[in-house]
Amino acid sequence: MVARILKTCLLLILPSIFYSIDYVLASSLVEKGTNGNYGDLCSSDPFEPDKGSCWCFYSNPVNISCSHVGYLEIITNAINQTSKTQDNSKLALQVNESSETIDQIVAWLTNGSYEEVFASLELLHLSWNGLTLVDLRFFTKLSNLKELDLSSNLIVSVIWVSLPSLTFLNLSHNRLTYISLNDALRNFPLLEKFDVSSNFLKSMDGLDQLKPNKLFSLYIHDNPLDCNNPSIVKLGGLIYSNRDPTKQGTNMIRQPWDILCSEPVKWKEMTVEQAYSVKQTSICHQCDCFMIKKDLLMVNCSYRDLTSLPKNLPLGARIVQLNGNRLRSFYLSAADSSSWSTVRAVYLDNNEISGLQDLEISKILRNLLSINLQRNQMKEVPIHILEQFSHLLKINLSENPWTCDCNTLTFQKWLQKHHEKVSDINKVYCTNSNNRMDFFITRNKERLPIHQLPISEICPQSNVPLHFLDILSGICAVLTILIALKAVYDYFWQKKTGKLPYFFKLNC
Ligand SMILES: *[C@@H]1O[C@H](CO)[C@@H](O)[C@H](O)[C@H]1NC(C)=O
Ligand SMILES: *[C@@H]1O[C@H](CO)[C@@H](O)[C@H](O)[C@H]1NC(C)=O
Ligand SMILES: *[C@@H]1O[C@H](CO)[C@@H](O)[C@H](O)[C@H]1NC(C)=O
Ligand SMILES: *[C@@H]1O[C@H](CO)[C@@H](O)[C@H](O)[C@H]1NC(C)=O
Ligand SMILES: *[C@@H]1O[C@H](CO)[C@@H](O)[C@H](O)[C@H]1NC(C)=O
Ligand SMILES: *[C@@H]1O[C@H](CO)[C@@H](O)[C@H](O)[C@H]1NC(C)=O
Ligand SMILES: *[C@@H]1O[C@H](CO)[C@@H](O)[C@H](O)[C@H]1NC(C)=O
Repeated sequence: MVARILKTCLLLILPSIFYSIDYVLASSLVEKGTNGNYGDLCSSDPFEPDKGSCWCFYSNPVNISCSHVGYLEIITNAINQTSKTQDNSKLALQVNESSETIDQIVAWLTNGSYEEVFASLELLHLSWNGLTLVDLRFFTKLSNLKELDLSSNLIVSVIWVSLPSLTFLNLSHNRLTYISLNDALRNFPLLEKFDVSSNFLKSMDGLDQLKPNKLFSLYIHDNPLDCNNPSIVKLGGLIYSNRDPTKQGTNMIRQPWDILCSEPVKWKEMTVEQAYSVKQTSICHQCDCFMIKKDLLMVNCSYRDLTSLPKNLPLGARIVQLNGNRLRSFYLSAADSSSWSTVRAVYLDNNEISGLQDLEISKILRNLLSINLQRNQMKEVPIHILEQFSHLLKINLSENPWTCDCNTLTFQKWLQKHHEKVSDINKVYCTNSNNRMDFFITRNKERLPIHQLPISEICPQSNVPLHFLDILSGICAVLTILIALKAVYDYFWQKKTGKLPYFFKLNC
């Protein structure tokens, strides 16, 4: 019992002891750091002394005494956040500090006294440092600087200066509301990558200057762009015209599918490329083209007095409302139907469509998930065309003057097989073609939808419609039996009378 209590106590006490030792050790280390014992100590990289690298513990102000920068690790508050690079020309500086301090560090980095030290610097990473304003004049001394990463700061504006070697400027994840591509291109003649993604840009000056160029990449996704702004329209046009992957400059605007409009409200989440195509597509001047949500572009042409299907739809149209028009056919030439390939739902109710035959030619609706054909003029429908809607999930067919005769049996079978897809199956009735009120009525005077009608009501003569081949084989069977009977008769006739059958008599 006693042993057990002791054991429990020990289990509780031991960790506390270790924790205390740990704490004492840790605080002595921190004290050393803040006292500056390491602060002005720059030594060779303890891990790789031969590299001539410089390894510093930072204390304010930074004191550096290496002849050139190699691997420089600056640790503030003993927080371990730097990325380690081996290259003599790379510096990653990451401090968990206020922007005041980092501005000091930048000033220090670029202080003329260290010109020699930094003249060879090619890569400078200053992300996650809470910078608010970037005065590039600080960096003029870094005459070999090729890559400047200022991402993930709080930068609201940039003061430009010419950096003749710079090829990559990363300003993503900041708070820029304005930036000019002209300024960047003018000051950095060798610029190859310019990343201003994830900022607060509504537009960007100088986009109209962009020429297809193999070497240049612009990253501008995740900004609240205003798609009525002429330069954003131009940007959309540039992406649109470079859809062809074999073309030069195709990759100039990166991640085009993420470059979305925030304004105008009805285009929210539309890609700038789609916005361009909406502006260029004539049907969108006559109808309403807008976003319901991301990736759901609707073309609303309800009650527009249209007599034919729109030839061209905007890029990526998903839903097309064409109800309440005067459409009679589905005709589209092969060239025109390509813009229909993304459409998933078509509303064609309240039109004058009398058949689906045109669908076979244009093949536009193979990808449809939903089609509404209510209130049209269809009397019959070729089943092989209905079968071509292989992805169809929903179809409305009621309030058409369906004519029922023996041919309707295949339609009935199709309805029964696809009853979950036909939303209004219980309202798909037979109608006399001349008089819409003359319905097929069952004996108890109840009006039954086609899928429930007894076969004898639809096709009273016979349960199964006679096929041409069935008739032929019937005739053959009868003939065969007749010939056989004649042969038997002739046999007995010859045996009894010794006379040859009629046919051979003439020969003798
Ligand atoms: C910087 O370091 C040098 C040499 O290690 C030293 O002589 C100098 O006093 C230091 N300066 C400061 C401001 O710490
Ligand atoms: C710094 O990070 C490395 C690797 O993540 C780790 O081994 C080391 O103990 C850390 N140093 C400090 C002072 O936290
Ligand atoms: C700074 O360090 C503190 C404590 O380690 C941490 O909670 C905080 O997230 C850090 N801030 C940044 C911007 O890294
Ligand atoms: C630049 O360095 C010199 C000499 O080390 C120093 O006197 C001066 O205050 C520094 N300037 C800045 C802005 O840090
Ligand atoms: C710019 O920095 C962000 C954040 O660190 C990063 O996600 C992005 O990939 C960088 N851009 C490029 C072109 O490398
Ligand atoms: C489509 O347009 C018609 C007529 O302008 C309108 O009544 C209807 O509400 C619109 N539909 C949608 C989904 O916006
Ligand atoms: C299709 O028919 C069903 C059942 O009658 C109805 O609820 C639905 O609203 C119809 N769809 C359209 C788009 O009219």
